[in-house]
Amino acid sequence: MTNPIDELYTVRDYLRYVSTTFSASPLYFGHGTDNVWDEAVQLVMRTLNLPLENNTLFLDARLILAERELILRRMQRRIEERVPMAYLLGEAWFMGMPFHVDERVLVPRSPIGELIERGLQPWLGEAPVQRVLDLCTGSGCIGIGAATVFDEAEVDLADISTDALDVAASNIEFHGLQDRVRTVKTDVFDGVEGRYDVILSNPPYVDAADLASMPAEYRHEPELGLAAGSDGLDIAHRIIAHAADHLNPGGLLIVEVGNSWVAFEQAYPDLPFTWLEFENGGDGVFLIYGDELRQWQSNS
Ligand SMILES: C[S@@+](CC[C@H](N)C(=O)[O-])C[C@H]1O[C@@H](n2cnc3c(N)ncnc32)[C@H](O)[C@@H]1O
Repeated sequence: MTNPIDELYTVRDYLRYVSTTFSASPLYFGHGTDNVWDEAVQLVMRTLNLPLENNTLFLDARLILAERELILRRMQRRIEERVPMAYLLGEAWFMGMPFHVDERVLVPRSPIGELIERGLQPWLGEAPVQRVLDLCTGSGCIGIGAATVFDEAEVDLADISTDALDVAASNIEFHGLQDRVRTVKTDVFDGVEGRYDVILSNPPYVDAADLASMPAEYRHEPELGLAAGSDGLDIAHRIIAHAADHLNPGGLLIVEVGNSWVAFEQAYPDLPFTWLEFENGGDGVFLIYGDELRQWQSNS
């Protein structure tokens, strides 16, 4: 039997071969791409450190042996171990920006990125943004994304996991934001000081039933970043209980609860929050103003 490495030479050959092989494999796409072709392009182009777009110039370029071996090795691990592509490459893209990622952090994919790109409009209005908290930051993608849009703001990237905070710190440095973005170790709000204009959070929110049935790819992600008790709201309940104490007047709280949105609605029937809508997909993200949260707490 021939070895594919002896018959495949060009970028185009590898894009075709990886696509064909992925198509015949039971892969799950939930970590940045949603189809075989995009996954193959990501594997081949980023292993070669080539751009994901405007790359046709390279299609007929021949690869050296080490490059061919690396692509095939990563392809095998994607199929046999079901490792998400972002971990194989050590990078993920969020809001059009690259982030360092590995198995210490979740692969960035929150729809909150779309809101940040829109400057949190129309919700923010003219309110100034001087301090932002990214609570449950993981790789730091949400807070670093916010720091690039609100370019005068000081941003805290907060997480309970020292491992995650190490990855977030490497991303702060990667994006050259050390002067106004920092990491904070905290258990929800326990280690957070002062008040913020905006709190953004993509906390763990997978309930026990969903956790038990997740595709194999998710087993490579830290369970601390996914599991949130029987209703998926362990962390969200704590955020609702204490966020008002950390928001300035006029401040905004935006939290993703994903599939646990049904349980959230049942738990907070009188809370005046708004579910947000996204052009690029995603749901289960709510917004509430700090003043409304304070008012609701004083009435309850
Ligand atoms: C769903 S991941 C989100 C990561 C990142 N924000 C993103 O969107 O890719 C949730 C993160 O919450 C952190 N976390 C879990 N429990 C926490 C707690 N009690 N306090 C603070 N962070 C916590 C996990 O370590 C993990 O990094």
